[in-house]
Amino acid sequence: MTAYQDWKTSIVVPPTFQPGSLPRVVAICNQKGGAGKTVTTLELALALVARGLRVRIIDADPQHASMSVWLRFFYPEDAPAEQRKNLMHLYFEDDVTLQDVTYPTPYEGLYLVPSFPDLVDVEDKQPTGTDTNLQFHLSKADDGIDVTLIDCGPKLGPLTVSALVAAHDLIIPVQAASGLDVVGAAALDQTVRTVKRRLNPDLKVAAIVLTDFTRSSLARKIGGGLARKYPDAVILPARTNVRIGDAQLAKEPLRLFEPGATTVLDYDRAAGILFQGRS
Ligand SMILES: Nc1ncnc2c1ncn2[C@@H]1O[C@H](COP(=O)(O)OP(=O)(O)OP(=O)(O)O)[C@@H](O)[C@H]1O
Ligand SMILES: [Mg+2]
Repeated sequence: MTAYQDWKTSIVVPPTFQPGSLPRVVAICNQKGGAGKTVTTLELALALVARGLRVRIIDADPQHASMSVWLRFFYPEDAPAEQRKNLMHLYFEDDVTLQDVTYPTPYEGLYLVPSFPDLVDVEDKQPTGTDTNLQFHLSKADDGIDVTLIDCGPKLGPLTVSALVAAHDLIIPVQAASGLDVVGAAALDQTVRTVKRRLNPDLKVAAIVLTDFTRSSLARKIGGGLARKYPDAVILPARTNVRIGDAQLAKEPLRLFEPGATTVLDYDRAAGILFQGRS
């Protein structure tokens, strides 16, 4: 048995699971820092692009060293500084549209709404309509994007809430060997319940990604516990790769930095199951 076939045995696809229709908005959240949100967002995005889908990543994390630094993007060459908008402007300026802040990346079919550290102003000032801002703009967008993935920051503040309000699906990455990430997921559950009750009744936890996964009794225990806790969610291990840090330094997704990596295969699998109902 190859390692790949062996790994397959730990994916859990509940009989109730149905891949959602396109276009689709997916929030990648866990308020625990370092759970694997940014890695999962980027690698899943590229796996979807490889399947021929058009994908937009929204970087909803004000931390400086986040997606918008790892994933390069292009402002139009002749755009003056005041036209170089980012996600923050979508919350504060009424006439800015999602298209105005969506930029191409080096990868055909992948687009980015970047963030800058001043995105934190949204958390501090909470401009009118913060909760429903992303939902409003995404529902009006008519730009042929099939899947929008929202990379949330390590906080359950207004930015994360606005991502949960806009999303059809929620993906929760959890470090496979961290008992603390699982504890963190409990606070997320509370927020998800409130968002569902008040603003987005159809939000569902589509998947738990066990990031940095190596086979161990702890990983099995954590995976098994999460499968019981989220009986309708797909449980997907994404195996450890020691070169993710090197890929980030090189400003390349792992998919390009080390194309045959098992982690890349794992995110391919995830893309197939979650969006097309097949692996
Ligand atoms: N499959 C993997 N193999 C090895 N390391 C991994 C893997 N996935 C994630 N990591 C490690 O975990 C670190 C944190 O991942 P990531 O930045 O995606 O987490 P995050 O949840 O986005 O963090 P933050 O909350 O700060 O935004 C990565 O820099 C990487 O070192
Ligand atoms: Mg992150």
